[in-house]
Amino acid sequence: MQISYKTVTRLITLTLLPLVMTGCGGEKTISFSQDIRPILDQNCIKCHQSGGVGTEASGFNMETYDDLMKGTKFGPMIIAGDAEGSNMVVLMEGRADPSISMPHGQQEPIPKQDILTIRQWIKQGAKNN
Ligand code: HEC
Repeated sequence: MQISYKTVTRLITLTLLPLVMTGCGGEKTISFSQDIRPILDQNCIKCHQSGGVGTEASGFNMETYDDLMKGTKFGPMIIAGDAEGSNMVVLMEGRADPSISMPHGQQEPIPKQDILTIRQWIKQGAKNN
């Protein structure tokens, strides 16, 4: 049986495509709309939308990407590329004063895996993707 040039090209494409899509380090590209939005909607938005207690108290609205990147009335909570220095991560990991760890009050802490996803998204440049 003869394998056509076309078959070979197709096979190569099929083998290489997943590698290209996951990037060289094998790290998945995090999407704001697919991965981050649902985490914020589940854990934060009820207090951090227009009129919510969190928004009223801090000025931090998470309804849109632009609002999110604007941060609080004191400044940005997310520094693109710097997960360690992004205050939003500091608060979610409970590294700040307990009185302002987020989610606020008697809320379930946000799952570790979700925090890691947010960290990775910030490291990848906190894009509106
Ligand atoms: C139950 C309501 C509630 C939920 C849920 C909530 N927050 Fe807040 N958030 C608040 C309140 C109230 C403040 C103001 C706190 C203060 O200044 O004492 C605040 C303030 C903040 C601030 C600013 C802190 C500062 O230094 O002023 C950040 C950042 C923040 N929230 C992030 C989040 C994130 C991220 C989530 C989801 C993981 C979240 N919040 C979930 C109520 C909430």
